[in-house]
Amino acid sequence: MLTFKTKLLSSLLLGIAFTTSAQNNTPIYLDVNKPIEERVENALSLMTTEEKVGLCHAQSKFSSMGVPRLGIPEVWTDDGPHGIREEVFWDEWSGAGWTNDYCTAFPALTCLAATFNPDLSLLYGKSIGEEARYRNKTVLLGPGVNIYRTPLNGRNFEYMGEDPYLASRLVVPYIEGVQSIGVAACVKHFALNNQEEWRGHINVSLSDRALYEIYLPAFKAAVQEGKAWSIMGSYNQLRGEHCCHNDLLLNKILKQDWNFDGVVISDWGGAHDTDQAVKNGLDLEMGTFTNGLTTNGKFPYSSYYLADPFLKGVKEGKYDIALLNDKARRILRMIFRTTMSANRPFGRFVSPEHSEAGRRIAREGIVLLKNEKQLLPIPVGKYNKIAVIGENATRSLVIGGGSSSLKVAYEVSPLAALTEKYGKDHIAYSLGYASGPSMYGREEPSKLNTDSLIAAAINVAKGADVVLFVGGLNKNHFQDCEGGDRKSLDLPFGQNKLIDALLKVNKNIAVVLLSGNAVAMPWVDKVPAIMQGWYLGSEAGHALTDVIAGDVNPSGKLPFSFPKKLEDNAAHSFGKLSYPGDSVNVWYKDDILVGYRWFDTKKIEPLFPFGFGLSYTSFAYSKPSADKTELATDGIVKITFTLTNSGKIDGAETAQLYVSKQKSVVTRAVKELKAFRKIFLKAGEIQVVTLEVPVRSFAFYNEAKHGWEVESGSYTLLLGSSSRDIKGKVEIHVK
Ligand code: BGC
Repeated sequence: MLTFKTKLLSSLLLGIAFTTSAQNNTPIYLDVNKPIEERVENALSLMTTEEKVGLCHAQSKFSSMGVPRLGIPEVWTDDGPHGIREEVFWDEWSGAGWTNDYCTAFPALTCLAATFNPDLSLLYGKSIGEEARYRNKTVLLGPGVNIYRTPLNGRNFEYMGEDPYLASRLVVPYIEGVQSIGVAACVKHFALNNQEEWRGHINVSLSDRALYEIYLPAFKAAVQEGKAWSIMGSYNQLRGEHCCHNDLLLNKILKQDWNFDGVVISDWGGAHDTDQAVKNGLDLEMGTFTNGLTTNGKFPYSSYYLADPFLKGVKEGKYDIALLNDKARRILRMIFRTTMSANRPFGRFVSPEHSEAGRRIAREGIVLLKNEKQLLPIPVGKYNKIAVIGENATRSLVIGGGSSSLKVAYEVSPLAALTEKYGKDHIAYSLGYASGPSMYGREEPSKLNTDSLIAAAINVAKGADVVLFVGGLNKNHFQDCEGGDRKSLDLPFGQNKLIDALLKVNKNIAVVLLSGNAVAMPWVDKVPAIMQGWYLGSEAGHALTDVIAGDVNPSGKLPFSFPKKLEDNAAHSFGKLSYPGDSVNVWYKDDILVGYRWFDTKKIEPLFPFGFGLSYTSFAYSKPSADKTELATDGIVKITFTLTNSGKIDGAETAQLYVSKQKSVVTRAVKELKAFRKIFLKAGEIQVVTLEVPVRSFAFYNEAKHGWEVESGSYTLLLGSSSRDIKGKVEIHVK
């Protein structure tokens, strides 16, 4: 922060120059009809060094300074990514107690990924963008696209699964949606924040191939196709440098190779050094651990790495002014794209349209994993007594989880919606199990007696025609929650024991799991129906009930593999050094074989595979054919087939196209997703479907040449209903 005297002096001096040049006409930077780059240069030319540095660091927990003298507004950021976080005190994490900031909670991003529907991602982005706009936010801190490497990662629920192609296709429309409302998306966490354990310092060691082929593509798509206006550096380190000021990631890859022209924002407290922050690509420093204004200057915002120490370095000639100008330019550009844009639409907040959007996304993301004896759906009137068991039937699942926790206008619980649907005389509820209070860094068991809870649940289940068990994880610490990883793959709070006990009195059980992660299912063969329901936001109960009752046919597909046991997962199969590391380093020994790439290549049977999801109807695929079988490296192959809804109910299927190369100069996954399409078909309807795949997407990253390379030779294209249910193959040759 600048001293008052310097500020006054510089603004007086510049004020004169400014008034003279702008006497009769609007200065260029205020002229919304001028091109943004001209406005940026003009504003920059009018600013003092102090004012430029003032743009580069926080002034409060979630905001940074504008240029008050020039009328350039402050930047207000807010989490993200599932709704607009409540207002907090100026310099604290705690809620400020405003009463106008109860938001709509949208489904978690794992659910969005499970829709396999880019149109819904656009709807998601627009809707949350409108909520952010209404609340006058400049930047929405989301979406997150870190790859699902281990089912223990506490933040997987905020991300889009294990496949770089799927995440890429879904992140782009989300960003386009948000930014169409004049709010900057901030894609996070760049990069390799794939675990919460030791997230502040863990140094990731991985091959270039794994980096470029698995962990970067979704960020690249976000930048180059989604044209994200900002990106958030991650807490961890890559090759010995913190990712918030990492030369390779930020200067070389992001800004040089990808031509990113937006703002690199640090994760909160992710900057550690002035020299590196100045030189290695950070533009806006947020949240450095500070008591800020509350303790009168003990680590106030002026002590941030990109505040006074930066200013001093520039004045002493230690740092080239060009480095400062570049950061200021990027921040100004973001401001002109958002708050100072003439085309900025208005927002709306907690509108019925947002509820409807949330409900649509939620019900399209729900994945039916098992459905024997057609236990589901359960139409109204089919059964007299439905037992609903489990804490997640009533618990709030928008609260907790860390920075994505939301203060919501409303949240419809599964129990409330089921009761509304079937009538209270037909629903009997029992808690069954209980989690403890959430304490940061501690797991507190519930004080309720487990045996009594089970006994009560058995009583309810015994007399029922069907049991809906609603459990899973929650957003407590060491569950699906930021700042820590899960301790095991198992369902917590004694749920396995409870399910076993329930099975003894009633075999008609549908297990509904609400979580952002895979869990082990020791009872998988004993229950007839299983549904993966994610965290579904404000409309959770309605969306689940829509599917359970059969008003909506489930069409979600898993965006990540469910392992049978933890050691089956690639990262874990290499032992502790591969996850979570030795507390200093983590070695990604699984390399490019993440998720289904590992299961398929190593021939390990997953519990449920990537891309899998059942429907209440059935689909038949014809034999696929290619428009050409000899292709150049810049060619595009079109794969055509007919898809038939061969059942009696309208529904949607996601056809998936994987590529496989048997003979290769490098290790390859047995198959990799390269295209997909979600197709809605009425019962009996037939549609001719064409999927297009550019040959260059078959490339691998050549480490020796530091570039992408398409190998010549033959490739097999596999058309499937999931990564493990391949319906047909086509052989093509690349010259
Ligand atoms: C999280 C970010 C979040 C930020 C601000 C950090 O701890 O990692 O995802 O946007 O806090 O709340």
